[in-house]
Amino acid sequence: VTDPNTVPARAADPDHDRLQELGRRHLWMHFTRMGALQRKEFPVIASGEGCYVRDTAGRRYLDGLSGLFVTQVGYGRAELAQVAAKQAETLHYFPVWGYGHGPAVELAATLAELAPGDLNRVFLTGSGSESVETALKLARQYFKLTGEPGRYKVISRATAYHGVTMGALAITGVPQLREPFEPLPGGFHHVPNTNQFRPFIPGLSRTDLTDALLAVLDNTIRTEGPETIAAVFLEPLQNAGGCIPPPPGYFAGVRELCDRYGVLLVSDEVICAYGRLGTMFGCERYGYLPDMVTTAKGLTSGYSPLGAVLCSDRLMAPFLESATAQFNHGITFGGHPVSCAVALENLRIFERESIVDHVAAHSDRFGALLEDLRDIPVVGDVRGDGYFRAIELVPPGAPPGADGTPPRFERSAIEPLLRGFVFPRMLELGLIARVDDRGDPVVQFAPTLVCGEEQLVELAGVVRQVLTEATDVAHSLA
Ligand SMILES: Cc1ncc(COP(=O)(O)O)c(C=O)c1O
Repeated sequence: VTDPNTVPARAADPDHDRLQELGRRHLWMHFTRMGALQRKEFPVIASGEGCYVRDTAGRRYLDGLSGLFVTQVGYGRAELAQVAAKQAETLHYFPVWGYGHGPAVELAATLAELAPGDLNRVFLTGSGSESVETALKLARQYFKLTGEPGRYKVISRATAYHGVTMGALAITGVPQLREPFEPLPGGFHHVPNTNQFRPFIPGLSRTDLTDALLAVLDNTIRTEGPETIAAVFLEPLQNAGGCIPPPPGYFAGVRELCDRYGVLLVSDEVICAYGRLGTMFGCERYGYLPDMVTTAKGLTSGYSPLGAVLCSDRLMAPFLESATAQFNHGITFGGHPVSCAVALENLRIFERESIVDHVAAHSDRFGALLEDLRDIPVVGDVRGDGYFRAIELVPPGAPPGADGTPPRFERSAIEPLLRGFVFPRMLELGLIARVDDRGDPVVQFAPTLVCGEEQLVELAGVVRQVLTEATDVAHSLA
């Protein structure tokens, strides 16, 4: 691997030191241990081009995370900046509360056209959490309007992340994210996720896992009372826990249970929509049709913030049947004209450059490049789909548990391994990727959808070097 930071960097930004100082003093970074940052430099990202970004120290990184699963079409797209500027000059803002504006109408129609099945109605938001919150409230109000007011509960999965607002957080199944804010609203239940490396019943085969997971879901619905359940919220490929794919037959089974008990199925595609899995929407990848799809992030490739909830005709029907029914929910910046105009142009780029086909064409190769790393002793599992993949780390050389469960790091070793070594070493070698210990420790990759062979090989090369070194670090932590 060539260390990109030994390649002559651009002259450092004269503002570098000033931004470090001011950032340390005033910027409250999200999900960040600010105390630890007081003692070290943090990257200040200054610019981007294609699949790469640069920081104010002049270092260049391959962005293996698309910012935060956002930058589908890559950095430095002048056409998106121009569309934003033009829309800001023409009509920079107007709400979609009782009014329309061209960009919102056009975008809603475009998304309805792109979406599978009868997902024909689009509620625009400003973010992923707002999309999830919107879907939750819509599910509840829908049942109030259709004569089943007792349906208010939600089922989602262990370790799944669905956002930060109180409803979305209640749907989230990550204990450490929930605990600081408890008590959370009631009526939220979590069932096991589809982790096949560590199935919730140790030793289950993939097909037995599907049956067991569906049995738990069925049982949860029946125990709680089907007449109390409004919706099931699931990601096509679960992010938190490390790119957890569904086993065969899982989504067909979930859809069947939802239909049997009159429960809505919400596909949370804040990450998986807009090409990430090699299909426009994540549900298409696994062949199911949800009642709602929550999206954000890649809708604009991040050139302006926007979210969208795609709703089926069934969801909309009670709001059309009477002149007085309304969804009592709205967001000032939901459907912002500049963001909608950017989203439309972003989707035009998708079409012009066959972005979704590009991901589908490179998906197996990306998978194979990461599979190739299985010989590194610290690599326990390699999983994911499309341009959304993870490697789970295990203590090298440790034996499996008596029930066949793969070995696990001591909790105390994960922090020094992931944050103390893997993350900073990847940065040093010019790769931005995610280390995550919301479940078992994983390194996650979600490169921009315009990455090709060259960048995928570069990414895998850096990961090989870092995880080979991490094996020694892991030994020293054992
Ligand atoms: C599946 C899922 N749902 C919801 C959210 C929340 O989105 P946001 O951070 O835009 O509020 C995220 C964010 O990563 C997500 O991955």
